Amino acid sequence: MRILVVGGGGREHAIAAALGRNTKTEIFSVMAKRNPGIDLLARKVHLCRETDVKNVISFAQEAGVEYAFIGPEAPLEAGIVDALGSAGIPCIGPTKAAARLETDKAFCREMMDRNHLDGCPMYRVFHSAVDAVDFIEGYDGDLVVKPIGLTGGKGVRIMGEQVDRAGAIAYTRSLNGDVVLEERLLGEEFTLQAFVDGNHLVPMPLVQDHKRAFEGDTGPNTGGMGSYSMPDHMLPFVQESDYRRALAIMQSVVVAMERTGSPYKGILYGQFMNTAHGPKVIEFNARFGDPEAMNVLSLLSSDLSEIVCRIVEGALALSHISFDPLATVCKYIVPEGYPDTPHAGNPITLPADPRALLYYANIERNPSGSLVTQTSRTLAYVGTGETLEEAERNAEQAASRVGGSVRYRRDIGTRALLDRRIAHMKELR
Ligand code: GLY
Repeated sequence: MRILVVGGGGREHAIAAALGRNTKTEIFSVMAKRNPGIDLLARKVHLCRETDVKNVISFAQEAGVEYAFIGPEAPLEAGIVDALGSAGIPCIGPTKAAARLETDKAFCREMMDRNHLDGCPMYRVFHSAVDAVDFIEGYDGDLVVKPIGLTGGKGVRIMGEQVDRAGAIAYTRSLNGDVVLEERLLGEEFTLQAFVDGNHLVPMPLVQDHKRAFEGDTGPNTGGMGSYSMPDHMLPFVQESDYRRALAIMQSVVVAMERTGSPYKGILYGQFMNTAHGPKVIEFNARFGDPEAMNVLSLLSSDLSEIVCRIVEGALALSHISFDPLATVCKYIVPEGYPDTPHAGNPITLPADPRALLYYANIERNPSGSLVTQTSRTLAYVGTGETLEEAERNAEQAASRVGGSVRYRRDIGTRALLDRRIAHMKELR
């Protein structure tokens, strides 16, 4: 089977590695910069912008691929799934219309509202700076300011955490008032990802990501510094009833999208805040999370190529998909200075015998063969183990031996951080 993987980050390396576990699958790749990990797995690589839909299609046709797996959100917004579909190449990824769940924050909330979906926070959509600022000034409490369109995961400003009321107003003005304003949710975040075939949804293990740049959840927001999952595929601060509610919300999204004429196929990513009153939806993404893809795909014991076929055929069932009962800890290595002033172009060295899986992200191999940092996250190590402690040890051992002008968060996946999450949740309930 020939499958095209679109995208060149850590997430796409994990997708390609999972597809490649089927020795009959041939991987083709489109990415903007040559990811050394995907490069090794792919039969052929085409370097171009992932949003250059015409270019991607002509490569896909030339390569004779049968399916395409779309990693990032930008090509989804550019309509790559619709265009590849018209060219006879079915995709893992939603159409442009269905991807609005992620690409248009106003659409997402209005869809939830119209369909009376559980877990929708109080929100208002604005297209005028004057009206939005009036609302912020008159609101008694903290708000979250979300630009309506895509921002690469870095566009949200939270009052009381990142900005004060004056900062929220200034930010809203800078966006010309094209924003969704939402009540600030307090609790613990978790990610629930699922395979979706238009009607059926099969969930993956729960994961918790870490957005902040520095240890102790301090510093600026990043694309995500790392993530962990537990051997039972749950999280200790998420009760069974919270999980069932979050899953029901995801299922009701699939039903609503089908009913409204934009059936959803691909990976659905739900980011939830577990609050004192149960899970609320922070946002949906129309793709795997990065880093969360690396946790769940490292555990996937079923054949991802087979899952691709089933999603396309609309024949997905729980019995087709299983994950190893292990913990995972993913630690992203990033350039010094990331995210504000990243040191790019610095050589790095990797441990010879890491006890963890390695996923390359924003890194290049220069003509002399050495690996050099770029401006974004460099690479990730995923440790697995019977316990969280073992998984963390394996990830930490590998991460601590990377040489060069890079850093990572040592606290991700540690018992101390997990205990803080559990205590925080107890305090709220
Ligand atoms: N980990 C957050 C995201 O992929 O958007």
